[in-house]
Amino acid sequence: MKRITIIRPDDWHLHLRDGEHLRAVLPDSARRFARAIVMPNLKPPVTTTELALQYRERILAALPALARFEPLMTLYLTDSTQPGEIATARSSGRVHAIKYYPAGATTHSDAGVTDLRKCHRVFEAMEESRMPLLVHGEVTDPAVDVFDREKAFIERSLAPLVERFAGLRVVMEHITTREAAEFVASAPPRVAATITAHHLLLNRNALFTGGIRPHHYCVPVLKREEHRQALIRAAVSGSPKFFLGTDSAPHARHTKETDCGCAGIYTAHAGIELYAEAFAAAGALEKLENFASRHGAEFYGLPVNRDTVTLVEETWRVPHQVAFGADALVPLRAGGSVAWKLV
Ligand code: NCD
Ligand code: ZN
Repeated sequence: MKRITIIRPDDWHLHLRDGEHLRAVLPDSARRFARAIVMPNLKPPVTTTELALQYRERILAALPALARFEPLMTLYLTDSTQPGEIATARSSGRVHAIKYYPAGATTHSDAGVTDLRKCHRVFEAMEESRMPLLVHGEVTDPAVDVFDREKAFIERSLAPLVERFAGLRVVMEHITTREAAEFVASAPPRVAATITAHHLLLNRNALFTGGIRPHHYCVPVLKREEHRQALIRAAVSGSPKFFLGTDSAPHARHTKETDCGCAGIYTAHAGIELYAEAFAAAGALEKLENFASRHGAEFYGLPVNRDTVTLVEETWRVPHQVAFGADALVPLRAGGSVAWKLV
């Protein structure tokens, strides 16, 4: 039986939701990860430092007794975010990034940015305080094919942004294409990317295996096998620009199994185990620790964790569904199994 011990990982892109949903999913992340960058796409969105600090308190209050977990807060960028908010966020010591959603790109993104030009003064303030911009990298132009929206975003928005704001630190979130992996790899060191476990493990065929599979639907949508392979190469490359971000995004079962289902895959129940599977399949388990536990902390200027976690290659069953407050949640691999287990 294979066994590996690594520095305790962090999750650099996580959706924790709020209220009873927060209480349902938080223990899964807290069991595996020491810290997580918490996405601000609540309804209403977390747009100010004050709202982020209140949300942080709700997360801490929802933690199981004895759990040690640090939520790293983010602000939701809007057309009307004030440049002065960036210094307030930085001096709080609790807010670690600003999230940019193009308006309409994904779940609860209707308050997102309609035109990047409206944010230029905010970006200058972010350069000054070294506050990273986390980018949902897809155009929303309905004329662009859904599978090409990430590539189009790089060409139309991201490359010009990185060039214009030469001091801006940028994380391209949940990259899904060869083009994104190449863009990030060849960009300056201030540009990095998170990669999800599901985009390392699945290609777009998983959306249609034997019928339509709403629990494999997320944004950005799964891509062709050649893109999955490019993501694997980036993840195991050893480059400090690529790090773990689960994008675990829980939605109640009935909101996914419907005629207009929500985007998001829940992976926090096996948040590190699924990455172990992907790295083992690539013959690169020894690369997992830096990807999961070092590169992100280094990019964010935070200390690397001091304790460790141990994983064994041992199959365990994933339940068909789990409780999600008054609702049910269908985790990735529901009714199936995961090949690595947290000790
Ligand atoms: C996320 C969610 O549900 O909040 N969904 C998803 O498919 N990833 C939003 C996001 O990160 O785009
Ligand atoms: Zn997300």
